[in-house]
Amino acid sequence: MKKSVAEERGLKKIYEGKAKILYEYPGDEGKLITYFKDDATAFNGQKRGIIMNKGEYNNAISASLFKLLKNNGIESHFIDKLSDREMLTNHLKMLPVEFVVRNTAAGSLAKKMGVEEGVKLPYPVVELYFKSDELGDPMINETYIRAFDLGEVKDVEEAKNIALKINEILRDFFDKNGLLLVDYKLEFGTLSGKVLLADEITPDTMRLWDKVTLEKVDKDRFRRDLGGIEEAYKRVYDITSKI
Ligand code: TMP
Repeated sequence: MKKSVAEERGLKKIYEGKAKILYEYPGDEGKLITYFKDDATAFNGQKRGIIMNKGEYNNAISASLFKLLKNNGIESHFIDKLSDREMLTNHLKMLPVEFVVRNTAAGSLAKKMGVEEGVKLPYPVVELYFKSDELGDPMINETYIRAFDLGEVKDVEEAKNIALKINEILRDFFDKNGLLLVDYKLEFGTLSGKVLLADEITPDTMRLWDKVTLEKVDKDRFRRDLGGIEEAYKRVYDITSKI
């Protein structure tokens, strides 16, 4: 397994999350190095494990999907892939919000609305969650942004619009490659006042189902102890490596 190049060079760790580590980029505070770990958590960290090679798959999958989006007019923090597990990004001022877009009912939406997983939604559903491990990422809306001073309402509106544009592009891409894009989570930040896509787009943060068998090809295999986890990540890696 390749070591973190950032760590080998003694670069300063800025933040360690559940699936990624952020390092400073020497000589340029405007950039960051993201290192993708094999660690997997679910249910706000209550379930923990390792998915072999996940870091390599997720780094490559994210890099490819950021490129696909860029080719379709959506800008992100992504600059370049640096190593098997690391990418170089711009350092954004992050919105403390997770944007979830759903095309098919699954997970918490199916539970909340009392419908079967797999019910197709006639229109995409967009949800906002306040990023807080302590509070378990509570669901919020735009009025919370203003009332709790979580950011600029116009930036959140803009991010929501971008999240829906991304839906068209990703849905079409995965459809052409035999997968149904059920739902996904995005994060955004600003750079010189511009709202840009950030974080990652990986099977950790998306639900993808085989179009024919409806088999799960994402982190639900870990969350629900379904086995075949590494194979699922490899399938998404193989598809996106053609971008
Ligand atoms: P949910 O159905 O559990 O609310 O998840 C919706 C989508 O968001 C799913 O694709 C998984 C993703 N997600 C994350 O990326 N991080 C999280 O912490 C959670 C709860 C979901």
